[in-house]
Parts: sequence; C-alpha cells; structure tokens
Amino acid sequence: MLSPEMNAPEARHERCRITVRGRDGEEQSFEIGRNELLLKAAIEQGIDYPHNCRVGVCGACKTRLLSGRVSPMVDLALSPLSNAQIEDGFVLACQAKVRSDLLVEAQLGRQALLPVCTVSSRVTRWRRLPGEVIDLRLKLDTPLRYHAGQYATLAESGSFTRRSFSFYDPPGDQPAQEVGFLIKRLPGGRFSEWLFERDRSGIKIWLEGPFGVMGVDDPDRDALCVAGGTGIAPILSIIGERLKRSARARFTLVFGVRTQQDLFAAEYLQALQAQAGERLRVIDILSHEPAQSGWRGARGLVTDALDDRLGLDFSAQAAFICGNYGMVEAVEKKLLALGVAPERIHADKFLPSGTP
Ligand code: FES
Repeated sequence: MLSPEMNAPEARHERCRITVRGRDGEEQSFEIGRNELLLKAAIEQGIDYPHNCRVGVCGACKTRLLSGRVSPMVDLALSPLSNAQIEDGFVLACQAKVRSDLLVEAQLGRQALLPVCTVSSRVTRWRRLPGEVIDLRLKLDTPLRYHAGQYATLAESGSFTRRSFSFYDPPGDQPAQEVGFLIKRLPGGRFSEWLFERDRSGIKIWLEGPFGVMGVDDPDRDALCVAGGTGIAPILSIIGERLKRSARARFTLVFGVRTQQDLFAAEYLQALQAQAGERLRVIDILSHEPAQSGWRGARGLVTDALDDRLGLDFSAQAAFICGNYGMVEAVEKKLLALGVAPERIHADKFLPSGTP
C-alpha cells in the first residue's frame, strides 16, 4: 500500500516540483508552492487535469501517487475512492495539499482544456419558473468558451459567497456572449436567497469558469440521459451539442422531479424536441405526485424508469447523469447492472443541499 504520508523525505524547500504522467506515459512538469492544492495548481498551469466538483465529492480527479507526499484534506475513507483504490495509492487531487516533490499519474486530456477566466456580467434575464427555479441569463463583459456539461461559479458583486451552476445552452462555435443557468432555491443558501429576494435584472454578477469535465463520448453514439431537478441544465447543453455534432444519434431522457408543479423545464425541453424530432424521447417521472391527481405519466424515482421497458440496447449507449449525489450513485449502479459500459457513464454529482 502506498500511503500519502510515507513516500519521500520531507521537502525542506518551499517550492515543489510536480510531474504528472498521463495515460500514454507522457509527462508534464511544473513547480508550485508547498501546501498548494494539486488540482488547482495543475489547472492554473494549463494542464488538462480531470476534475468536476473540486470539493472531494465526485471522484473525477482521482490521481495515483507514484512518489512524494500529500496531505489529504478529506478523510479518504469517506471519499468516493474505493478501499482498493486507496490501497493502490490513489488520492483526490482537488483535496491533496502538496507536501513534497511529486510524481503522479492521472487521466489527462479527456477534453481540450479551456482557460478558467473571471469575468463580470449583467443579469439580462431573471425569470421565475415553476418549482422555485429561476432562469438566470447573464451578458458577459468578456466572451467565454465552455464545453457542454461544464459549470461556472457565480458571485454577486461585492460578496464572497459563490455557488456553482451548470450552463444550460449548448456551446457555440464562438465564445459565448451570454450564458444561462437554472437555479433552484436553496433554503438558507446565501446566493440563492439573495437571488430569489427580488428581480435582479441589470445587477452585476461575477462569473468564474468554466470548470468540470463531462460529456466526452462518440457523438454518433445513442445516449441515455438521466436528470434530477436542475440537473437538467447540463443535460440540455449536452443533448443540444450532440444534436449539432451528429445527424443520427438518438436520445432518451429520463427527467425526475417531485410533482407536476415542479416540471419547470417544459419549454426548454419543447425547444430541444423541436430541434431533435423523433430522435429525442423524454420521460418525465414524478416521485411525490399525489395519487389522486390526473397525472398519467410515470411515477417513482428515476431509477424506476430504467429497465427493459425503455427498449434500449444498454450495452451500446453512452450515459449522461446529472443530479444530486445519491441519485447519481443509484443511477450509475443501475446502469452498470443493465450493461452500460463503465467508461461510457458520464456523471455530474451535485452537492447535497446545504453542503458548503
Ligand atoms: S472529487 Fe476532486 S474534482 Fe470532484
């Protein structure tokens, strides 16, 4: 077992040399200050390092420590890493404070890295949707590039409170001048309470991004997409983008919310449906719809809709899943059991409500 704490003599200098080895054995090196976070430093160096949540939840940044020493900022036993991975020397780069020179191995280059920028913007749309969701559109002072499925952090001007939200538009050929987010009210959440307080049209908001890696797969492959709540935002972006890149891929989207009143994404899905025609099938499923209501659609959890009744060859699908942590974990498990190849499952796990 390779312990994060026991691989090299204590570095006595303040700078550490990091060497990152990719899947193909190619190495990239850079220097960072001791105690800096490995992932943050690698991204700042322009390295296409795998990541998503940046807070130790999703496991996308898993990195094998080949030599050197890091201090994990989270208890690895409670992290998304399996015991076997921990014993094999894996750490989470987003939570790894660098303590010495390092040689690490990571799955670099899954997606062309785009520069992370901090840009100012103005709110051009503040629109309440059903289910305590706001459609927030921002006109950017500096255009920004992002990939489908990525996210940005937003902060009201003059505040240090930031929250992360996924872009819902598919990226265009040119950097985006305007971007949109679907934001669910989070009781007690400072950003969301501020946003919901009153119409914020015209207000200045700082945006930092893009972050996250998701959605890389053969564009012609059929896709099964599963979204819970505002997890629909990155899915809208991914389907929209894949529709542009393939004239034949078909999409099945399972969208879960609590009740009919929470079906906030209807008009966005209708727009996508108009573009996709028969290539897109949408299944809304409600988990808490009153039994006596007139709802004739599916009831239950999103996992209840995932079975042979979908009529899919699961082994041929790419899967894209976005929603809260527990839902994504459950869907991943079910899809693996149904025969979806693990390397074709692309997931974005939102933090549980209230997690800082
Ligand atoms: S666990 Fe590190 S990016 Fe998600």
